[in-house]
Amino acid sequence: MDAIVLLRGAYLSAAGLVLFVFAVPALRSRFLDYGPRSSRTEKKEDAGEEKKGVSASAVGTLLDKLAELKVPHSWFTSFYAVSVTLSLFWAAELLVRGPSFQAVARYAPDTAHSMSFSQVLVVWTLMLAQGSRRLYECMAISKPSESRMWFGHWALGILFYTLTSVAVWIEGISSIRAHTPSTRDFLIQGPSARTFIGVLIFLLASGFQHDCHAYLASLKNSKKTDGGAATSDYKLPEHPAFNISLTPHYFAECLIYLSLAIAATPKGGVLNWTFVSALVFVMTNLGVTAYGTGQWYERRFGSDAVKGKARMIPFIF
Ligand SMILES: NC(=O)c1ccc[n+]([C@@H]2O[C@H](COP(=O)([O-])OP(=O)(O)OC[C@H]3O[C@@H](n4cnc5c(N)ncnc54)[C@H](OP(=O)(O)O)[C@@H]3O)[C@@H](O)[C@H]2O)c1
Repeated sequence: MDAIVLLRGAYLSAAGLVLFVFAVPALRSRFLDYGPRSSRTEKKEDAGEEKKGVSASAVGTLLDKLAELKVPHSWFTSFYAVSVTLSLFWAAELLVRGPSFQAVARYAPDTAHSMSFSQVLVVWTLMLAQGSRRLYECMAISKPSESRMWFGHWALGILFYTLTSVAVWIEGISSIRAHTPSTRDFLIQGPSARTFIGVLIFLLASGFQHDCHAYLASLKNSKKTDGGAATSDYKLPEHPAFNISLTPHYFAECLIYLSLAIAATPKGGVLNWTFVSALVFVMTNLGVTAYGTGQWYERRFGSDAVKGKARMIPFIF
């Protein structure tokens, strides 16, 4: 068993699972939509239509029960807490070649086409920066919310960030094995063209995504209900980025994982295929959510609100 093949397989299987749930209306309406898209007030009619045929059956009842297992949308914060924690954990493991590193490395054969140690350091730093920024945004910028997501969605997110904390270094195992840590590791050397392009795309996409998140937060008039719970009224975004794509923050996320696939390319390779597999999952997962976002904006604000706008990737989808 090869740990790299296993990791890539896990991302692609997860993407396949998301597509399967999306393709089956009875599953899609129950398990996929989250956040604003699952606003209870508007969803009922459509969901009722889509659930027809299975609702009355025992299977339908079981699915309904499963669909009730929801957690707050604000639990997204836990994804980034896990991501940052695992980044730090693996840094320690890699430096001392600890037992967890050894356990994974046992299943990754040595190769001449490895990421260099400094590449691992760069990509690890980028992933730590991504997790830290998102954690900050969730804790300091996002407005209180009462929207929810299915428990399975949350579990898949935790799995994604757990796998990605390993993807950062798994294609550099040969260099890590051969490396003797020293202070010279922290000397800044001229980056390769690939690292330069990867880091540049990462920084631009991160800044762009941060602006989108700050804008979305500014749209919400959070207020407390009599019971003290936060409620929110959603608005149609008018920021120029949202006039090209309904979900520019998702597009930025795709660019971020593309940039990691570029920066983490092993020696002699075209791209880092483990990160390309992660990118396939991200595009699939966010693509189906962006599809639901388009439907939700149209339902809520009318067809003019979505006219001429891509769902996620400008001019393409
Ligand atoms: N790597 C991955 O696989 C993955 C998967 C999912 C998400 N993400 C990333 O995580 C980030 C957040 O994703 P998300 O799916 O949570 O985004 P989202 O559903 O668009 O929600 C983001 C925030 O904006 C609010 N919001 C959304 N539309 C609004 C509107 N029209 N008016 C006012 N507020 C609005 C939401 O409020 P509520 O809290 O009330 O819903 C939430 O606080 C994105 O950048 C995405 O790329 C990554």
